[in-house]
Amino acid sequence: MVISFINMKGGVGKTTTVVEVATILVKEHKKSVLIIDMDPQTNATFSLMGIKEWEKIKDNATIADVLGMNKGFSSRDKEYDINNAIVENVCNIEGLDLIPSHIELTFLDLDLSGQAGREIILQNQLKKCAKKYDFILIDCPPNLTLAPQNALIVSNYIIVPVVPEFFPSIGLPLLVNRIEQLKKRLPNCNVEILGVVFTKVKRTTNNHIERMDSVRRTCEELKIETFQTVIPETVKISEAATRNKPAYIVNPGTDGVNSYMNLVNELLLLLED
Ligand SMILES: Nc1ncnc2c1ncn2[C@@H]1O[C@H](COP(=O)(O)OP(=O)(O)OP(=O)(O)O)[C@@H](O)[C@H]1O
Ligand SMILES: [Mg+2]
Repeated sequence: MVISFINMKGGVGKTTTVVEVATILVKEHKKSVLIIDMDPQTNATFSLMGIKEWEKIKDNATIADVLGMNKGFSSRDKEYDINNAIVENVCNIEGLDLIPSHIELTFLDLDLSGQAGREIILQNQLKKCAKKYDFILIDCPPNLTLAPQNALIVSNYIIVPVVPEFFPSIGLPLLVNRIEQLKKRLPNCNVEILGVVFTKVKRTTNNHIERMDSVRRTCEELKIETFQTVIPETVKISEAATRNKPAYIVNPGTDGVNSYMNLVNELLLLLED
C-alpha cells in the first residue's frame, strides 16, 4: 500500500502527517513502514534524524541518488540500488525505515529533462524493496514536478492535508484536475484520492469551522471523502520536529498525538473496505 501526501499549498501539515501516521502505524499497529522524503526541503528527513547522521549519507544515499541524479560525479555508473538509500529503524523506531532527501533534488527536473522514462524511475527502484513493507508513505513537496510525479505513479492513494484557513476551494479542484491530466499522460498511473484531512485546526475559531463546512461541500462536489478526524493546531506537534523526533515519541498522550492515532484508526478502517 503506497500513499502519497500531497497538496500544492505549502505548510499545510503534509510532512507532519506523514511522520506521525508512519510512527503510529509502526508503534500501535505493528506495521512495517517506509517513509520516502520526496521534498528537497528535507523536512521529513530532519523530523526523524539529526544533521550529523544525515551528513554521513548525503553524498550517496538519498532520494536524489535513487532518482538517478549525480551520475558522473561519483562511482555510480551502474543503476543505483534503492536499498543503499534506506535508513533502517530510523530514530530508533524498529520497523520504521526512511529514504532521506537532499536539497539538490530541487534540480531533478533540469538534470533529467529529456531523459526517457524519467517519471518511472522510482517505480522501477521500488520493485527491489517494496515487498518488505506493509506501507510506503511518500512526503511530497507543494508542487507537481518530476519528483512528485514519480511518487504519484507508484501510489495507490493520495491523502490531501488541508488547513481550513487557506483557499482549498480553489486549490482542490485544481489538484484533482492536474492529477487527472497526469493520469492521462502516464497510462500506468492509477492513483486515487483517498481523502482530505483537516490539519492545524483552531477549534475555537469560528472562521475555521465555517471554512471546514465549505471545504466539505467542495469535496462532496468533487466526490472526495473527508476524514472525520480533525488534527488540532498545537505546539506539542510543532515542537517535536525541532527535536528531530515524532510528536508520538516526545509528546505522547497529548491532544495532537491522540488525534493522529484516531486518524490512523480511521485510515485503516477505510482501507479495509
Ligand atoms: N497540528 C499542528 N499543530 C501545530 N503546528 C503544526 C501542526 N502540523 C504542522 N505544524 C507545523 O506547521 C509547519 C508546517 O507543517 P509541515 O511542514 O508538516 O507542512 P507541509 O505541508 O509539509 O509544508 P511544505 O509544503 O513546506 O512541505 C511546521 O512548522 C509544523 O511543525
Ligand atoms: Mg513538507
